[in-house]
Amino acid sequence: MNDLDALVASANDLFAQSHTPADLENAKAQFLGKSGRITEMMKGMAALSVEEKKSKGAAINLAKQAIEAALNARRQALADAELQVQLKAEALDVTLPGRARARGGMHPVSLTLERIEAIFGSMGFEVAQGPEIESDWFNFTALNTPQDHPARSMHDTFYVEGGSADAPNLLRTHTSPMQIRHAVQHVKRYQALLDAGQTMPEIRVIAPGRTYRVDSDATHSPMFHQCEGLWVGENVSFKDLKVVVTDFCRTFFESDDLVLRFRPSFFPFTEPSAEIDIQFQTGSLAGRWLEVGGSGQVHPNVVRNMGLDPERHIGFAFGMGTDRLTMLRYGVNDLRLFFDGDIRFLSQFQ
Ligand code: DAH
Repeated sequence: MNDLDALVASANDLFAQSHTPADLENAKAQFLGKSGRITEMMKGMAALSVEEKKSKGAAINLAKQAIEAALNARRQALADAELQVQLKAEALDVTLPGRARARGGMHPVSLTLERIEAIFGSMGFEVAQGPEIESDWFNFTALNTPQDHPARSMHDTFYVEGGSADAPNLLRTHTSPMQIRHAVQHVKRYQALLDAGQTMPEIRVIAPGRTYRVDSDATHSPMFHQCEGLWVGENVSFKDLKVVVTDFCRTFFESDDLVLRFRPSFFPFTEPSAEIDIQFQTGSLAGRWLEVGGSGQVHPNVVRNMGLDPERHIGFAFGMGTDRLTMLRYGVNDLRLFFDGDIRFLSQFQ
């Protein structure tokens, strides 16, 4: 091996041992730099004869080209290696399954409320919403339940700031205050008709929502849901109440042979009053009477508090426990499950 071949071989070796671009450039300088071995050889040619210059120069050039080719090959190899490292670091494993997005759903009690609104909506009932923090007047007094009325003791609740000592603000114990609130608005809207002795459009409304009482066991929760219903006009009777509520219950439970019973009871704001009981004819609850709400003919004092004349306007009202309806529809035996927020329970209703 002549000197030039040895030089090319040693350049190849050195380049191969260079593992970074900076190392490689240092190695290059040893051969092709200003005082590199090839450069020095070129300079040394000045002293040679023309003949020698020709042959030696050609040989040096070949060696130089070989070194440059080796250098470029190594540069490329280092750049490729770096790219591979980078690609590896940024690798996406496209075989991983996608991340599923959890689907939310409606709460079973909300499903019931929607269902109630749809059914009563189809019978021409409006839907009204009202405040959960209620005044003593709307929750009790206007509903014919004055200060010292014993019926108040069954409605212990949570009191909030505002109001006065003998008429505090409270969390409403039922949706019945919406009877007064809605009727007063309705009467205001049609006052001109009434004043002219004409007939106003009937009040036909339901008011679903949250209610509160100091109560907690498997069938009572301090927060629960009710749906109020009110139908007032010049010719609305207890018969209409039975038809509407029976129709509703049969549609709600999708059961034509469901039997209803209006059991005499007492509420201060209705006279006469009745509990609404239902009885399934088939299934695990068949034959048992189950209470789903209260109802009755609106009391004359309540009609008066609506701003109407009880000699002219009559009607009926009802209030149903919508959590209870949900329990019966889905076969749930503990009310508290609805409000514990356990996703394993709630996801079964989707
Ligand atoms: N508000 C009553 C309660 O929570 C239920 C009720 C009874 C509502 C009779 C009514 C009614 O509208 O007419 O116990």
